[in-house]
Amino acid sequence: MSVASRMVYLRGLIEISNRCRKNCLYCGIRAGNTNVCRYELSDEQILREAQFALDNGYGSVVLQGGERTDSAYVERIARLIWQIKRLQPSPYGANHGNSNLHPDSFSKGYNLGRDITLKSLGITLSLGEQDREVFREWYSAGAHRYLLRIEASNKALYEKIHPQMESDENPSGKEKKNLHSYDARMAALYNLKSVGYITGSGVMIALPYQTRENLEEDLQFFKKFGVDMVGMGPYIPHKDTPLGRLVLEGLECLKRGEQAPDLGEFAYIDNKEKLNLSIEMVRRLREIMPNINIAATTALQVLSPDGRERAVLAGANVIMPNITETTQRQNYQLYEGKPGVHDDAESTRRELEKNLAAIGAKIGWWQVGDPHV
Ligand code: 5AD
Ligand code: SF4
Repeated sequence: MSVASRMVYLRGLIEISNRCRKNCLYCGIRAGNTNVCRYELSDEQILREAQFALDNGYGSVVLQGGERTDSAYVERIARLIWQIKRLQPSPYGANHGNSNLHPDSFSKGYNLGRDITLKSLGITLSLGEQDREVFREWYSAGAHRYLLRIEASNKALYEKIHPQMESDENPSGKEKKNLHSYDARMAALYNLKSVGYITGSGVMIALPYQTRENLEEDLQFFKKFGVDMVGMGPYIPHKDTPLGRLVLEGLECLKRGEQAPDLGEFAYIDNKEKLNLSIEMVRRLREIMPNINIAATTALQVLSPDGRERAVLAGANVIMPNITETTQRQNYQLYEGKPGVHDDAESTRRELEKNLAAIGAKIGWWQVGDPHV
């Protein structure tokens, strides 16, 4: 399918909190990173941002946050989902500059006078591993898509990039459960599917210890599992993480002309090669799964300003513009160099619109954008 005939769907990304109980060795907001200022958006902030998405024709929102499992949190998320599903468009629209909006759109409510009817915002969750019951509760409240990356489908690689020793994650030794179990993660993915979610997964590309065969396994895993959506992007080292430090120190050794520790074939490749590898993965995935949703992830934009547009040209059809309040964006840095931390939702939208128009892709305004699988 050519780009011109492919719709790009937008999901407004709301980074609801950077508190996380996990300690993934690559992630900047891991529980063990004390350099992070932890925040949590209020219900009002989250609802305001969802309203922005609705009024601007995004069609759906993604609630993303670190992993938390306490019952107060689970109930709060269910309540928020319920409230977001019931949001109505603002009477006069929040935005007058968007030429894609039908002038009658707000007076006619959700029926936009075209052949498009948006009943309510679609809700995608990206809130980590949860019990099946929790997945069910959130589904019943109105969420219908869930993103849970397998991160690395090869078990040995997964275990290298997540803490495995109990003492790594539970110095007190109180909790016996391994929080970073590959089998538990896989089980969670199958639970999501059986509960009824449109289920998304994904991996990181160019991880230390990763091989070309691992990336091939990742593509085969997506196919075998039957994912509906994939978000995969380049791994970007973060200096306050164990894995990031390894890579960055290795790179320093290389700069000094010394021998660096062997971290596999991709750990030290430059941004250009990393971007090419990521784009190639998108292209291959689109070949083998023609109808799923594939995200052009923000991490691609770290490697090059046009990283996401290149992914769209290679077959990606979903972009998740950040609509989180500007004041909190810099605290949600899974990797360093996250783009757009000082932009606001409005300028993020305008910029994206311009860039997509430049490559001839059409935006699926007002559409929830579920895959045709
Ligand atoms: N580089 C790239 N992606 C990362 N993620 C976490 N840390 C990094 C990093 N350093 C990704 C993980 C996670 C998603 C929300 O962000 O794949 O699932
Ligand atoms: Fe938490 Fe997700 Fe980061 Fe792991 S990748 S530490 S689960 S936010």
